[in-house]
Amino acid sequence: MTKHLNDIIATRRALLGGLAGLPLLNLAACATPSAAPPATSAHSAAANFASVAATNADTVSLPPGYSWRPLIAWGDALFDTVSADFAPDTLTRTEQEQRFGQNNDMLALFSAEYAFPPPRETNRLILCANNEYAIPELMFPSVRAAADFTPAQAEAMYASVGVSIVELTRDGANWRVQKNAAPGQGKNRRITPFTPVRFTGPAANHRWIVAASEAVNAAEPGAPAGQVSCGTAANCAGGLTPWGTYLTAEENFDGLFVGRSSDISATSFSDQPYALDVLSHGYPGAYFPATLAPAPFRLAQNPYGPSLYGWVVEIDPHDPTAAPKKRTALGRKKNECANTAIGRDGRVAVYTGDDQRGEHLYKFVTRGRFDPANRAANMDLLDEGDLYAAQFLENGQGRWIKLTVDAANRAAEEQELTIRFADLGDMLMRVRDAARLLGATPMDRPEDVEPVIDHEWRGDGTVLIACTNNSERGFDAPGNPRRESPNQYTAQNNLPGHILRIDEADGDTSAERFSWDVFALCGDPDAQELTSRTRSGAPVHVSVSHDGEPTFTGDRFACPDNFFIDSGRRVWIATDGNDGVFGDCNDCVLATQVDAAAPRPVKRFLVAPVGAEVSGPTMTPDERAFLCAIQHPGSNDVTGADFTTLRWMGEAVPSHFPDGGDAWPRSAVVIVTRDDGGRIGD
Ligand code: FEO
Ligand code: CA
Ligand code: CA
Repeated sequence: MTKHLNDIIATRRALLGGLAGLPLLNLAACATPSAAPPATSAHSAAANFASVAATNADTVSLPPGYSWRPLIAWGDALFDTVSADFAPDTLTRTEQEQRFGQNNDMLALFSAEYAFPPPRETNRLILCANNEYAIPELMFPSVRAAADFTPAQAEAMYASVGVSIVELTRDGANWRVQKNAAPGQGKNRRITPFTPVRFTGPAANHRWIVAASEAVNAAEPGAPAGQVSCGTAANCAGGLTPWGTYLTAEENFDGLFVGRSSDISATSFSDQPYALDVLSHGYPGAYFPATLAPAPFRLAQNPYGPSLYGWVVEIDPHDPTAAPKKRTALGRKKNECANTAIGRDGRVAVYTGDDQRGEHLYKFVTRGRFDPANRAANMDLLDEGDLYAAQFLENGQGRWIKLTVDAANRAAEEQELTIRFADLGDMLMRVRDAARLLGATPMDRPEDVEPVIDHEWRGDGTVLIACTNNSERGFDAPGNPRRESPNQYTAQNNLPGHILRIDEADGDTSAERFSWDVFALCGDPDAQELTSRTRSGAPVHVSVSHDGEPTFTGDRFACPDNFFIDSGRRVWIATDGNDGVFGDCNDCVLATQVDAAAPRPVKRFLVAPVGAEVSGPTMTPDERAFLCAIQHPGSNDVTGADFTTLRWMGEAVPSHFPDGGDAWPRSAVVIVTRDDGGRIGD
């Protein structure tokens, strides 16, 4: 197979004697001390609830004194124009465009009327939820074989992803969904992979986007001038801006497309014929027989289609008529999130993780400054600024490498590579290659990247980074620790994942330098042995110690994915894959404190139903309700067997969440409150 640029660069660096290509031995005696632990103060509030026991129950499990209920689930009507009853088997695209989407991930809450700073008390909110992807086996109960899918079902499946926007009203102490009479009569909205959107910023007129836009608009006519009917898809996490817009991050867009090997190219070099850069982004993944894919997602008909995805998309939830904007200045990659903080001088930083093994951590800093008195003046701040990728150094320090065309082309020349970027837009289109050329650190799947902000959205420079895991073996490297093990000279994987903390220089989110430390090395703080077994029987290193000191105590966990940091600086951690490492407990939410010194106390707050990941943890502004997304309940059973396989063997679905009984499982947003009405976690 053709070597990817990543491998070529690593090999050349090693040959040139550069450190980046050399494994660092995971040997305690050799370990260089990391930065002094960040100054700890006692101002994070402790998590004041009784820890939930590990469980494989097919429900939401909570501490005593807390209750949950589903707020909204896949298929629930957003408008009176569709039936209140939902029948997945007969779902059409038109109907799904008026119903809550599938596989909800990131959740964001906005006050119904924009104000800055956001009010703490309000009776009306707007919920934005990402609908990340669709799993064919969990869509249509009557489909018993892949060949049974109809074109209408295929189109409905595409329409089930994107974003759902829903008005919420306070009903006494509780919150409920406010249906609108019809689309356009209120703020409820579905944005799907067919919705007209606008490309903005330096790559907006990139020749690949121009070519793909023509193909998409020919297949999906009717987009207003200057817009493309490619909507958004593969929406994983995201973020909110201080000017009241929603950022949705497009992640695994490769899975949207279908194609044969003759339709794809294996390399990202721009002078090669381009379809999907499979060595960087992955192979096309058909949801179902490839002939059923809507035309825009067939690589043979739309070879540049993948260039329309992998962006951060800005949506104004206050204006349901506004076209979503794909902000190309933030670069095209598998964005997990896009979290913002206001720096010292008013420029806004946007942190994104690129969730794939060996990919990077990014920060965009706007050129303009946030104006709290003029919302309109902020609406295009994300079109101009500097994009950086993180480089972690051995001494506990790090730097943000500014990604520029000149520097990237010079690096390519020095490394005797033929790749060149024609202009800024071209570099942003292939930003992973630019980051790699310039020495960004390959990471263990950086997912959520959460700056700590105050009520006025000012970052204090502390940022937490969830590195979900890395199933490939490697050695301890800056920012990517490995665990104590019986044989320190052996490369090891990082199945449990870890959480990093960085502290920006001078506490400024616009800084170009930072220090870093391991906030939590996920695993089992009570493990008697350094090595344990996963549910499938594979050996897994589970020590939570870094540089000989335990990073946390309390409840064991693995695969951190998304964070929410509350006003008391508690950190709420949602997991994606905990049950793959610790088979006795489904995915869960845990709480700890930003400012606690190691070993930090970790308590399990919520356990999700069978086969679900938990995502999108958030709270209402008064922090009296906790919300999270229960994504793909039933995608595996308690033994870890995947429903993708079980389904075609005629097995029953492993979850009936949230409706219970024999009901078909549905991804759902759940709302958690305290029985005494108090603040969550206090
Ligand atoms: Fe969609 Fe990175 O998980
Ligand atoms: Ca996620
Ligand atoms: Ca994830």
